[in-house]
Amino acid sequence: MSSLATPENTEPTFNPFSPAFLQDPYSHYARLRGLDPVHLARFGAYVISRHADVGFVLRDRRFGKDFIERSQRHYGPEIMAETLFDHMSRTMLLSDPPQHERLRGLVVKAFTARRVEAMRPRIQQVVDDAIDAVLDVGKMDLVADFAYHPPVAIICDMLGIPEEDRKLFHACSEDSVKILESAPFTPEELATANGRVQTVRSYFERLYEQRRRCPCDDLTTQLMQSEESGSKLTNEELTASIMLLFVAGHETTINLIGNGLLALHRNPQQLALLRERPDLIGSAVDEFLRYEPSIQFTGRVALEDVWDLHEKTIPKGASVLCLLASANRDEAAYPDRPEQLDITRHGGKNLSFGGGIHFCLGAQLARLQTEIAIVTLLRRIPELRIDNTENPDWKPKFVMRGLKTLPASW
Ligand code: HEM
Repeated sequence: MSSLATPENTEPTFNPFSPAFLQDPYSHYARLRGLDPVHLARFGAYVISRHADVGFVLRDRRFGKDFIERSQRHYGPEIMAETLFDHMSRTMLLSDPPQHERLRGLVVKAFTARRVEAMRPRIQQVVDDAIDAVLDVGKMDLVADFAYHPPVAIICDMLGIPEEDRKLFHACSEDSVKILESAPFTPEELATANGRVQTVRSYFERLYEQRRRCPCDDLTTQLMQSEESGSKLTNEELTASIMLLFVAGHETTINLIGNGLLALHRNPQQLALLRERPDLIGSAVDEFLRYEPSIQFTGRVALEDVWDLHEKTIPKGASVLCLLASANRDEAAYPDRPEQLDITRHGGKNLSFGGGIHFCLGAQLARLQTEIAIVTLLRRIPELRIDNTENPDWKPKFVMRGLKTLPASW
């Protein structure tokens, strides 16, 4: 059994909205792992916290996304007529087989390892430009002035979207994140969100028209041409897939770069080691992913009664939260001091990119960007200090873990 980070042996609770949880979710996870690994939270979801169980749920076909039925249960049967919900239902992330296989199959073909690797020089250039812009100033916010740039510039480059147009997607992207965080919408918020999706859809209709007339060597053209077993993406599916790449890929990577830099500066020996041995960056990024993952948990719905998880019955229709960040600190998977940051760690498989059929499509791209960003920063500004490592400014979010700001100086 995992060791408990807090001494009380009272019933563990799961309240990710509390400020104490936000500052240190890990001690709460440790209690859940130790005392109640399939925990029924007060808000009705089953919370899974051990590594083996999280991996099991992610791979087991008795659990799925059930997005349409779940949304209808929550908001009523008419909800799918709302543009935002219709749009989200066309993403692979919220689809179950067979729709999931079809959507993912069409996108995965265009999102190849070769295409990602070809982005290396451009990522390096974006990182260097961000550093050049602040080098003489002597200070920056590592989130807004640094971590923000590579993910956003790269996904826009890959898709062939001019950077100045990306502002258009930001608000729409926030609405999508809100759905992923299961945050409720007021009727006014929903009306605004619907309008934004419509604007984005119209923007892409024009882009598709241009690409049809004049195809380019970009991901948008590839996705338009992608075809499998006679099936192609419809325009709505294309837009949902492109927006998903934008949404899933940018905040997550910004957070990973920020969380990794904070973790290093909170562990000066590890920071010194990476400065001395930049060749360790591959295992260091794996360790940042394990130690402070930018997605803390992901949801599933039981598609039938499931009774073989610690002898508890999870009834059909119940929501299940898979605590990826808790699984990553489970002693059963990481026997060697899982609470410590160790950039030389070997073994164990972190679940930060999920598992099963929804395993992250952008894992390789996220790793590459984070590696280049962190190694370059340590090399080019060796005297950089983070101003406040004690009480960092975490965003008050439920699923995504990342910093609002991370001021640094040199
Ligand atoms: C540190 C960065 C990232 C993290 C931690 C991350 C994490 C995840 C996780 C946990 C999932 C699975 C969700 C689930 O099972 O419900 C996922 C799926 C996905 N991710 Fe990422 N991601 C990152 C970066 C990216 C990037 C850069 C892209 C693309 C540009 C991307 C695209 C996707 C897509 C398309 C899916 C859906 C796959 C599917 O449903 O089949 N991600 N990601």
